[in-house]
Amino acid sequence: MVPMLGVNPSLPVFTLPRDLAMLSEFLLTEMNRLASQDALPLHRQLYEALRRALLDGKLAAGERLPSSRDLAQDLNLSRNTVVAAINQLSVEGYLLSQVGSGTYVNDSVPRAAARTTRALGQQGAQLSRRGERLAGAYSASRLEVEQFTPGIADFSAFPVTLWQRLQNKHWRMTYPDMLDYSRSGGYAPLRRAVADYLRVFRSVQLDADQVLITSGTQQSLELCAHLLADHGDTVWVEDPAYWGAVKAFMATGLQMHPVPVDEQGIAPRPADEDHPPRLIYLTPSHQYPTGAVMSLARRHQLLACAAQHKAWVLEDDYDSEFRFSGPPISSLEGLDKDGRVLYMGTFSKVLYPGLKLGYLVVPKPLVEAFRQAHYDLNRPGQMPVQAALAEFIEMGHFASALRRARQSYAERRHALVEALRPCLQDGARGAFIGGAEQGLHLCVRLPQRVDDVALAQALAQRGLLVRPLSAYCLERRDLRGLILGYGYAPLPAIVEHGPVVARGVNAALAGG
Ligand SMILES: Cc1ncc(COP(=O)(O)O)c(C=O)c1O
Repeated sequence: MVPMLGVNPSLPVFTLPRDLAMLSEFLLTEMNRLASQDALPLHRQLYEALRRALLDGKLAAGERLPSSRDLAQDLNLSRNTVVAAINQLSVEGYLLSQVGSGTYVNDSVPRAAARTTRALGQQGAQLSRRGERLAGAYSASRLEVEQFTPGIADFSAFPVTLWQRLQNKHWRMTYPDMLDYSRSGGYAPLRRAVADYLRVFRSVQLDADQVLITSGTQQSLELCAHLLADHGDTVWVEDPAYWGAVKAFMATGLQMHPVPVDEQGIAPRPADEDHPPRLIYLTPSHQYPTGAVMSLARRHQLLACAAQHKAWVLEDDYDSEFRFSGPPISSLEGLDKDGRVLYMGTFSKVLYPGLKLGYLVVPKPLVEAFRQAHYDLNRPGQMPVQAALAEFIEMGHFASALRRARQSYAERRHALVEALRPCLQDGARGAFIGGAEQGLHLCVRLPQRVDDVALAQALAQRGLLVRPLSAYCLERRDLRGLILGYGYAPLPAIVEHGPVVARGVNAALAGG
């Protein structure tokens, strides 16, 4: 899982490395036990042993791990074996690496997992390994929704009265079929409305029967993972990555291979070819969280790479409705000649997240299999709500909600950029806003020498919840920055608190 820190004021202070001999003894005992039970490769044995140490509290939150070199020497293992185990634990959010200062146990992740494991132990129950990993990995439900929390829309602006009227109308008109599960991939008029919107505004090439209404991006991703990949298959994920996708792939038993992102989007290296992908997960219109827009050249390169590997591309177009400057960016799907891209979107951002509705566009040859699996695995329903939403779109309410929201987020973004100007002015010190003017968050990039985790903690102590960019990184150790959401922050709050963030960044740049 993404090593995302819960930035709250009660975070422990990082401590020094523990006694290496004691830790090594524990790890070797665990590895011996595992070797006698299972034919696991060495790096997997070490991964399991370290994870056990974390879950049992033998390595405490905030504690610094001995270096991979020292561990390798003490355990008589190759450094590659140790690094592979540590990387996997970082990907899953147990550990967090900081360039120049070492690898640390992530904040309350292990404690939470230990609590869950203990509680279940008392009841005589036991989680699967996957269950333990999911329970132990960072949970976004612990994140408070605060003014600078990224990815949160201003759902207080949702036209509740109008929505209520539409819902009442469709409940009154409801005939028994509408109370059944949905068998055809969703309410037909809603699928048509989504198809019309995507064709015109996102250049997606589709017919309405290729649209599946899902309960949001998580469900779309899980469906793709279940139908297009087998347990253990490789999925390329952007590094840094959207935690929700990482968790969906973790839950479906896929092997994640992080591929770095630069200012033109995902940038596969020759060495990545050693991990041929079955799936490639992307946010090409506005990379989450850096904000990079995937260039045309990179799009063609990526599609060629997918075709070469016969891989499926999962395009998560989560916030492209909110583009504030420059020409609209077409979907990657619109360039796809081979039918390898599955396109997904959500109503969480324009309407409200609890609506739990999104859509997945499936290439024609896959439609029947996806419809059937969606029915068998998810038993989708909520037809009266889908009917109300279809009318909401057909009557132009969606377009007006979008217009209002776009205007409001553009103002908020502008105000935040203005408030941050004092820390961005002196370009020589290396702070700048990366990525496109789009969406509900922006990314302040910082030089590598800045400890963005400490900066986020310092801001949390002033009541501002921002997230460090490094916390979204899977394998990378070079990215530093702050992810600031403005979707949920009213203008006056941005004007009041933005300068506090700017002062914090300035202090961090000055090394104070
Ligand atoms: C990259 C990305 N994809 C998708 C979503 C939304 O997904 P859902 O439809 O599950 O609400 C988010 C929400 O923050 C996101 O950041």
